[in-house]
Amino acid sequence: MTDTAHTEAAVSHSFGLLRLPDSIAFGDGARASIPTAVARLGQRALVVCDPFLASTAYFSELLEGLEALGVTATVDSHVVPELPVAEVEAAVERARAAAPDVVVGFGGGSALDLAKLVALGLAHGTPMNRFYGENLVPGPVLPLVAVPTTSGTGSEVTPVAVLADPERELKVGISSPHLIPRAAVVDPRLTVGAPPSVTASSGADALVHAIEAYTAQPRTPEWGSQLPVFVGRNLLSSSLALEAIGLIGRSLRRAVEHGDDFEARAEMSYASLLAGMAFGTAGTHLSHAIQYPVGALTHTPHGVGTGMMLPYVLRAILPTDAARLAEIGQALGVGGGSAEEAAEAAVREITDLMHSIGLPRGLASMGVAESDLEHVVELSLTVRRLVANSNLEPTEENLQRIVRAAYRGEHQELAASAATAHESETRA
Ligand SMILES: NC(=O)c1ccc[n+]([C@@H]2O[C@H](COP(=O)([O-])OP(=O)(O)OC[C@H]3O[C@@H](n4cnc5c(N)ncnc54)[C@H](O)[C@@H]3O)[C@@H](O)[C@H]2O)c1
Ligand SMILES: [Fe+2]
Repeated sequence: MTDTAHTEAAVSHSFGLLRLPDSIAFGDGARASIPTAVARLGQRALVVCDPFLASTAYFSELLEGLEALGVTATVDSHVVPELPVAEVEAAVERARAAAPDVVVGFGGGSALDLAKLVALGLAHGTPMNRFYGENLVPGPVLPLVAVPTTSGTGSEVTPVAVLADPERELKVGISSPHLIPRAAVVDPRLTVGAPPSVTASSGADALVHAIEAYTAQPRTPEWGSQLPVFVGRNLLSSSLALEAIGLIGRSLRRAVEHGDDFEARAEMSYASLLAGMAFGTAGTHLSHAIQYPVGALTHTPHGVGTGMMLPYVLRAILPTDAARLAEIGQALGVGGGSAEEAAEAAVREITDLMHSIGLPRGLASMGVAESDLEHVVELSLTVRRLVANSNLEPTEENLQRIVRAAYRGEHQELAASAATAHESETRA
């Protein structure tokens, strides 16, 4: 089959779905468009800003720009890492006094998620636990303008916000198309000061978003009913994801090692935006499911956990998803040979990339004890939305294999056992 015939066959048997902000502005200098985007949506803005960014010239410029357009701004820079629910609800109470009609999020994923949650709380009240899960937000939230300063979570375009609740062992997500910001302004200049560790963890997470969106399970949507928030991989999300993978492959190392390399920063900003657009409908899967309990146990950044897990997850899906992984290899500029060889090369390249930006090599080096592994598997399996979104059967046995290999930090051993399992499945 020629490439064209292959593509046509795929299109006729597949589907596409994207849900996005009304406007997305990307580019050096795009930050100058924030005040106009805000003024289109309201006259009293609540600006939720990362505490570090609040002290920068970029932020002063933003406030001046808003004032020039007659927009009253109230600033809340009390962004507590991990977003404990009590802090989120306190931010909603503080916001009520300002009675905003538009919310601006300016910062990393934590600031953007807090902005989303405050917009939700102002529109539909608290407590927040009524909204945990999928499609439980009853209607539109306050209009949001999202401006990321890391590359990134993609939160500027996604329908999800993540927070911590002491009554739950794992962090919880609130997912709803109503949480998609109305406008996203992505200016790579704002990311230039991000320290190497933040650049590495958030950049690794962007790669995991793109790869997990690309390898998510294809499902046929029930068009006539309310669709789930995450519908699996599809034509539109896959194009964006593949583009993001190529860009991250060539610019993440440079962005970590040379923070002032503006070309690398711009490519990472753009890629993280594309990856967010892709996983916003396709969803992510196993690296994210396993990061939830790992993050809870080790208090390590989200992207460190998802990025560390990615090579182990890819090894596990390689026997059933070789063609897909070979395409990822092609985007990364490695491969050749059979689909299996190209897929192998892709996994090796991704493993090297994660190590070269300083991510831990396995669960043990992240501080997880062997006696925790059963519990990690058990809890990962409870994140159904994520474990059910991969091509791998979400069984305890499969999760055990991935988590045990990640504990030992031995990719090869998992590869060997996955190949054996596949052979015996094929023989059966
Ligand atoms: N909503 C989503 O779609 C989504 C997706 C993935 C992750 N997340 C969430 O996002 C959070 C992680 O976000 P993150 O990785 O962007 O980190 P972050 O927002 O937690 O910020 C990390 C640190 O970087 C600093 N920082 C941010 N931008 C900077 C800049 N330009 N210069 C200097 N310092 C800067 C912050 O002050 C902070 O100290 C997690 O809570 C995770 O759960 C959300
Ligand atoms: Fe993520």
